[in-house]
Amino acid sequence: MLTIIKGPYLQWPTEQTITIMWETSEPASSAVDILMAERIHSGYHGNFKKPERVVKSVNEQALSLIHQITVSDLEPGTLYFYNIRSTNDQYEIESGPHPFKTAARSGEPFSFTVTSETGGYSSFDQSNGQINRNIFSQMQKYRPDFALFIGDIVDDGHHYDDWEKYFFGPGKSFLTSTPFYSCLGNHEDHASWYYDFFAYAPPKSYYSFEYGDACFICLDSTDFIDSDTYPNCSGKMEIGNEQYDFLVHQLRSTSAKWKIVYFHYPPYVSGGYEVEDLRKLCPVMEQYGVDVVLNSHTIVYERSHPICNGKVDFDNGIVYMVAGGAGAMPEWFLPKRSWHTAQSLAEPHFLHIVMTSSSLELQAIDEHRKLFDKFHIFKDSAGNRTYS
Ligand SMILES: [Fe+2]
Repeated sequence: MLTIIKGPYLQWPTEQTITIMWETSEPASSAVDILMAERIHSGYHGNFKKPERVVKSVNEQALSLIHQITVSDLEPGTLYFYNIRSTNDQYEIESGPHPFKTAARSGEPFSFTVTSETGGYSSFDQSNGQINRNIFSQMQKYRPDFALFIGDIVDDGHHYDDWEKYFFGPGKSFLTSTPFYSCLGNHEDHASWYYDFFAYAPPKSYYSFEYGDACFICLDSTDFIDSDTYPNCSGKMEIGNEQYDFLVHQLRSTSAKWKIVYFHYPPYVSGGYEVEDLRKLCPVMEQYGVDVVLNSHTIVYERSHPICNGKVDFDNGIVYMVAGGAGAMPEWFLPKRSWHTAQSLAEPHFLHIVMTSSSLELQAIDEHRKLFDKFHIFKDSAGNRTYS
């Protein structure tokens, strides 16, 4: 029997393209229909009809288990629906329509959610996965344009079943309508499934994309830090390292007003699992005006003061967020906070970040949708920041 066993889910949205992936139980062909819904008006009220008008179809006859189709020539910042179809000699299946939106143009506001540790917390989790289900369900209510996962989304990346158990299963409803990006944590361990299931730009372990007025850069911090030799490993966070050179090139070449960098290991957190060696990346990120760095690994929430040159600096500093996400390990905190700690809490959570060309509004929300921290960065046309 031919069935859809993962997804469909959305990858790498641009202003004109979207990539759609899914996995089937048997080898089958791949097809995607893009639909639009008519807007109907009745007096003062407007609503959308069921999407029925197919505006584009892409077919791939070759049989596969993991399906990946990119649809191009779409309109920026536009609501569409998609339906996937797979066939083999005996069966024909489809998903039914799911919504998606192409990427916002420069100048257009957007929002995204951030979480992590859907799998990394698993060996401590007594809730039988309820925390993961809560986090995905609450994120969906905010209807973000996309989602970031900062690693450890599975317990053991080499175990095929983990990807469904910790990520694609509990996230199914959210991921069918929300494009997402992930980065490598130590629990993914560079497993081949990460490369098979995700459609990021090569080499996939690090990449960069632009959305609205922001440049996002994902790094593989597990490649910078060798866990077998840390804290005495070389680090290699210097010119000549392929990934370091990529970071510098992207920061130097982007004209985006906001710069956000994310990777798994936290250079600043007032608890266990802080990886101070990663502070070697800070000077170049400060030099090129990175606004926010997103990390996880320590299974807590923490927001730093703006930091530059190893000190609190509200004029030139970077805010470091630890979004330990789908878990809570209060005993991993030190008994007292560090000098760089602005706010911290050990609760399962996610971030919802709303961005315009001149503001970044961050909310930290727990698994029961309670807001427990928020802050704002405003940026003027000269690039000067103020905080509230
Ligand atoms: Fe980790």
